[in-house]
Amino acid sequence: MSDMLDLIADYIGVKKGLSVNNPANGQHITTVKDWQEDEVDRAIVAAAEAFKTWSGQTAKDRARILQRWFQLIMEHQEGLARIATMECGKPLTESRGEVAYGAGFVEWFAEEGKRTYGDVIPAHAAGKHILTLKQPIGVISAITPWNFPIAMITRKIAPALAAGCAAIVKPAEATPLSALALMVLAKKAGVPEDVLTVVTTTDPVTIGKILTTHPIIRKVSFTGSTAVGKILMQQAASTVKKTSMELGGNAPFIVFDDADIEAAVDGAMASKFRNAGQTCVCTNRFFIQDGIYDEFLRLFTAKVAALKVGPGKDAATRIGPLINEAAMQKVAKIVSDTIAAGADLHLGGIRHPAGDNFYAPTILTNVTMDMPAANMEIFGPIAPIIRFKNEDEVIAAANDTPYGLAAYFYARDLGRVWRVAEALEYGMVGINEGILSTEVAPFGGIKQSGIGREGASCGIDEYMEIKYCLMGSG
Ligand code: SIN
Repeated sequence: MSDMLDLIADYIGVKKGLSVNNPANGQHITTVKDWQEDEVDRAIVAAAEAFKTWSGQTAKDRARILQRWFQLIMEHQEGLARIATMECGKPLTESRGEVAYGAGFVEWFAEEGKRTYGDVIPAHAAGKHILTLKQPIGVISAITPWNFPIAMITRKIAPALAAGCAAIVKPAEATPLSALALMVLAKKAGVPEDVLTVVTTTDPVTIGKILTTHPIIRKVSFTGSTAVGKILMQQAASTVKKTSMELGGNAPFIVFDDADIEAAVDGAMASKFRNAGQTCVCTNRFFIQDGIYDEFLRLFTAKVAALKVGPGKDAATRIGPLINEAAMQKVAKIVSDTIAAGADLHLGGIRHPAGDNFYAPTILTNVTMDMPAANMEIFGPIAPIIRFKNEDEVIAAANDTPYGLAAYFYARDLGRVWRVAEALEYGMVGINEGILSTEVAPFGGIKQSGIGREGASCGIDEYMEIKYCLMGSG
């Protein structure tokens, strides 16, 4: 890790600025620059200038640079993983996985950048020709969360750069170091000055406003809460910017009587406890059918009780800390309010002795849809369990939410598999799978979970405009 801190030495250790702390023990790690409004403005103007040259390069030239960036990220996998764990708390094995996941977007979009084809369309009249061109949208801003301090940056920036855009990134206040390390590696790979700028700040509201209202910025990509996404969309509307919003979720995980129960329990563990439950796609509500309820609960409880809680840097740790005290209080309140509303505490339900920000993996049973744990985004290691009787009832309950990001179900009856997959009002559905994320598939939600898709071949379209050209013969 120290090699990574050396790598970003020019950007850390400033006297006054944004303090970066380790959520596992509260210790101060370092301080980074607190960008001021006029500096952000200058960076945007510089990005517009850099965009002219960068977009003028061939896609193949940009691809070569992105390939080098991918290689450098993978060469520094361990150092990047240690920085991510230090600032966001997730277990080291998960951080290593996140580095590979994040690098995957860079590798993928290096290739996809070469395939941004337009069309030749049969014309509507003789002597005319219709063509479409795909062109980079311009300077984009990306506002990224702390829970995936690496992958949420590459998922936005790799397609933007591959398309020929220039980008300004504002990482979450809790996790600026991973962002700075990625930027330094991008520069080493050959990304020109001002094509990619990371702005760190203690004042996300003011800087976020500049990044969503500045007339030069043509597109805003955000990952975070639905509440903040709505504000950013309103701000972006003032200059009619294109937006991509990857927002909150309330993922159901349904286990039908005909499921492979052991596979369902494994999927439940992966989907619920990744990053201590702090992902937008983590299961928020478990629906277990009557006939297998007791067996599922028995197997699931044994696995949850065995989860090792501790600092992410310890090899045995499976559940790290929550990001901060506010997150801890929110989770504790959801648990106590859900119990007060009539649910039973089956396991956990307490702060964990590993430290101030640690919460014990918790199972709540006899949960109903009107209780806080079933209808608020938990973002913590809490598993609320709801018993159900039939398919229609569970689909109605699963869809009874303003959110529509990820859903999961386990079943083996083929007719049911298709019926349920089609009926779930979600952007992503895991069928007998508890983890969906990969750079090759389109990630995104419907309803109040967002707009647009990231990753996959369509992910680069978010950073391009289609220009229609009509050519006459005169
Ligand atoms: C998120 O929590 O926003 C992203 C999760 C993922 O990419 O798997």
